[in-house]
Amino acid sequence: MPALESNTRIAVIGAGAMGSGIAQVAAQAGHPVFLHDQREGAAEAGRAGIARQLQRRVDKGKMSQQALDDIVGRIHPVAALEEVAEAGLVIEAIVEDLDIKRALLSRLEALCTDDTILATNTSSLSVTALGAGMKHPERLVGMHFFNPAPLMALVEVVRGLATDPTVAETVHATASRWGKKPVYATSTPGFIVNRVARPFYAESLRLLQEQAADAATLDALMREAGQFRMGAFELTDLIGHDVNYAVTCSVFNAYYQDPRFLPSLIQQELVAAGRLGRKSGQGFYRYGEDDERPQPQTEAMRESRASTVIVEGDLGPAGALTERLRAAGLTVIERAGKGQIRFGQAVLALTDGRMATERAATEGCHNLVLFDLAFDYASATRLAIAAADQASPEAIDDACALLQRAGFAVSRVADRPGLVVMRTVAMLANEAADAHLHGVATAADIDLAMQAGLNYPDGPLRWSDRLGSHRVFTVLSHLQRSYGEDRYRPSLLLRKNVFANKGLHHE
Ligand code: NAI
Repeated sequence: MPALESNTRIAVIGAGAMGSGIAQVAAQAGHPVFLHDQREGAAEAGRAGIARQLQRRVDKGKMSQQALDDIVGRIHPVAALEEVAEAGLVIEAIVEDLDIKRALLSRLEALCTDDTILATNTSSLSVTALGAGMKHPERLVGMHFFNPAPLMALVEVVRGLATDPTVAETVHATASRWGKKPVYATSTPGFIVNRVARPFYAESLRLLQEQAADAATLDALMREAGQFRMGAFELTDLIGHDVNYAVTCSVFNAYYQDPRFLPSLIQQELVAAGRLGRKSGQGFYRYGEDDERPQPQTEAMRESRASTVIVEGDLGPAGALTERLRAAGLTVIERAGKGQIRFGQAVLALTDGRMATERAATEGCHNLVLFDLAFDYASATRLAIAAADQASPEAIDDACALLQRAGFAVSRVADRPGLVVMRTVAMLANEAADAHLHGVATAADIDLAMQAGLNYPDGPLRWSDRLGSHRVFTVLSHLQRSYGEDRYRPSLLLRKNVFANKGLHHE
C-alpha cells in the first residue's frame, strides 16, 4: 500500500511529550496537522514547544527561519475533537489507560469518515483490546513512536487481531515517508523493543544483586567491551526507575510471570525510596552539582613476567586478540588446542557460561582465568575477567598483565556464570529468537528495531550469528544448569538452529 499523500490531514490527540513530537514529525513531512488536547491551552503549548525546539536548529544554522515558519504554520491546535473529523489518519497519544483510550476511539469512530485510519501510540496496552469496543476494529493499528519522536527513528507498526493488513501497510509506508524506520509487530506484551530489551536491564541487575561487581564497573563493561551507548544503570537512571520498573512488571505479568522477565528487588527498592534516577537527583548514581560518577574497578597495572604467549586452537569470536597481542610486541606461538591462551602461569579462555571455578575443576586446569565477550576485540578498551577459586595469585597477575599489555583496562569481576557482556548478549538473542518464534516480528525487523530504537551496536540475532548459534546455545544451557532456573532456558528456535547449523538473522 502506498504512503498517505503529504496533503493528507493528520490529527494528533494528546499534546504531551509524545503527541507534540509526533505532530512535529508529521508537519515536517509536509502534512497539515490538527493537534488536540482535552486540557485547555495544552495544544497551543505543544505547538510553542515545537517552535522552541526548531528555533534551536535555526540558531545553529541547521534550518532556515522559513522552514521553521512553514512547519509550525502547518500545525493547528484545535479545541474541539470534532475538528479532526476530516483527517485521513488520527494518532492518539493520550494517557495510557485502556478505558479512556477506548472511549476516545469510539468517539473518533463516530466523528471521522469511514476510511480514516485510527492509530494508537500505546506502549503497553493491547491493540486488540483497544479495538475490541470499536465498530470497525480493522481500521485501528498501533503506531508506536519512541521518545523523543522527532529524533528516534523507530516506529513499531502494531497489528491487533482485527487490524486490516492494508491499514498496517499504509501506516508503515507513511512512517517511511516521514523518514522513520518502521517495523511490523503483532500485538503482544511489550511488542518488540520493550520485550526483547528486558534482559539488558535484568542481567546487570542480577549481577549487581549477586555482587559480581559494582554498578559503575558493570556499566563501564557494557560500554567499553559491549559497545552499548550506556550501561543498564546509567540508562535506567535516565529513563526513570519508576518507568523502567513499571514496564518490567507489566511485561512480567502479561507473560503470566514467566521467570525470564522477573523484576529486580534492587530496582523495587530504588522506586520505594524515591530514588528514581536523574529526575529525582539520585538513582544508582547521584546527580547533584558536585557529584562525580564513581570510577569503575580497574586492576592496577601488572608487570609482565613473560614475553611469549601461546595461543592454542581457535579463539572463536576472540580471534582478533591474537593480532592485538602481536601488535603489543609479544611473541605469539600458535598451536593446536581447544581455544585458550597460555601466558606465564595463566590459562585464559572465553567464557562459555560456566563459572571459572566449575570449569577449572572439570577440566583439571587450576589456573583458569575466564574473559568476557567484547563486541570487537580489536578495538575494545576494557575487558572483564573472572578467575577460578583455585587459580594462584601469580596466574591472576599474569592474566591481568597480558590483557593490560594489549591495551585493555581490566575489570576483575566475581566468578559468576557467563560474566557480563556474554550473558547479556546471549539472553538478548534468546529473547529475540523467542519473539520471532512466537510470530511477534520477522528476524530482520527485530534486529532493526533493537538498533533503531535503542542504538544497540548490532541486532541481537545478527550478533548471535556472529558468535554462532552453537556458542550462544551453550552459554545459555550452562547458565540454565548453573542457576537451575527456567529463566535461562534456550529458545526452541536457537536449539533447532544449532542442529540445522544455521543462524537466526535470516530466519
Ligand atoms: P503525557 O502525559 O506527556 O501527555 C498526554 C496528554 O494527553 C496530556 O497532555 C493530556 O492532557 C492529554 N489527554 C489525556 N486524556 C485525554 C483525552 N481523553 N483527550 C485528549 N487529550 C487527553 O504522556 P506521553 O508521555 O506523551 O504519553 C502519551 C502516550 O504515548 C501514552 O499512551 C504512552 O504510553 C505513549 N508513549 C509514551 C512514551 C514515552 O516515553 N513517554 C514512549 C512511547 C509511547
